[in-house]
Amino acid sequence: MFYMTKILVTGGAGFIGSNLVDALILENYEVTVIDNLSSGKREYLNPRAKFWQLDIVSEEIDTIFRTERFDFVYHLAAQIDVRTSVTNPSFDNKINVLGGLNILEKAKKYGVKKVIFASTGGAIYGETEEIPTTEYAPTYPLSPYGINKLAFEKYLYYYYQTYNLNYTILRFANVYGPRQFKGGEAGVIAIFVDNAIKGKTSIMYGDGKQTRDFVFVTDVVSALIKAKEIDCRGEINISLGREVSLLEVKAKIEEVLGEKILIQVEPAKLGEQKRSCLSRERAKAVLDWEPKFDLDQGIKETINWSRAQIK
Ligand SMILES: NC(=O)c1ccc[n+]([C@@H]2O[C@H](COP(=O)([O-])OP(=O)(O)OC[C@H]3O[C@@H](n4cnc5c(N)ncnc54)[C@H](O)[C@@H]3O)[C@@H](O)[C@H]2O)c1
Repeated sequence: MFYMTKILVTGGAGFIGSNLVDALILENYEVTVIDNLSSGKREYLNPRAKFWQLDIVSEEIDTIFRTERFDFVYHLAAQIDVRTSVTNPSFDNKINVLGGLNILEKAKKYGVKKVIFASTGGAIYGETEEIPTTEYAPTYPLSPYGINKLAFEKYLYYYYQTYNLNYTILRFANVYGPRQFKGGEAGVIAIFVDNAIKGKTSIMYGDGKQTRDFVFVTDVVSALIKAKEIDCRGEINISLGREVSLLEVKAKIEEVLGEKILIQVEPAKLGEQKRSCLSRERAKAVLDWEPKFDLDQGIKETINWSRAQIK
């Protein structure tokens, strides 16, 4: 009998997760999603995926692992809002560390071949002198979100050393593209684009000279898919490797739209990171991965998708 590789995607109704699930299903994998729909959307769920509306901290997850016997686990479910992590660090810890540990315990117990973890670059390295930042840079997270993501990376290492549970960590830059949640901090392109096409004003905090490294979701999905095949533990940055200011992002959106967008400038947020740009050399070397979408193409795709949503 033909055996289909079984894959669990936690957070598979979310922005990156739902795009990943679609791609895995196109490649004929049998996909199960666990998501509590706290920010994910039912309409983004691929109808060919099995779906469990559950919290990752729940013990009910044991039954799903026992019956499904997954080959691979993509762990993407997370509390992703940096500001929420600052106001409620215990909650962030509960989802991003304890929830993750629940998944790891079941992966260990039911013989999962590999766990692929969606970690973060900017929030883990913090303000750093090394730009573009390599995976070897010291890690000084400036938020509970960054601390908890880093803590979970260390648990992955521990489970590998102690129980031989294989893993790969991808540290994403700022991901953008279709289906991105418009709240939260990482979504500046989503927010600017959505407001622009609705004729609404976007708020820009600070002088707009703060920089980020924006990588398109389709490229992130291709990195995630490649990650399950490689024999490499440790961390791999997934980025465009291009440092872009928010002012440049605004100008790029205006160029594609052919009109000015409405921006209200507010004082910079306390403790906001000034620069972020990740080196992608290691991704090329160990994952044979390079992004295919530059900022122009990615913004065009995002605008087309956003326009289609309001029609
Ligand atoms: N978007 C980015 O720029 C970015 C950058 C770095 C890392 N990441 C990481 O990538 C992953 C996916 O992020 P995203 O941007 O798609 O965010 P998202 O909010 O769209 O996706 C997260 C998903 O997890 C689900 N979820 C949240 N808490 C849960 C819980 N307790 N139990 C079950 N499901 C839960 C949400 O409903 C959502 O569908 C996260 O781990 C995030 O930390 C994202």
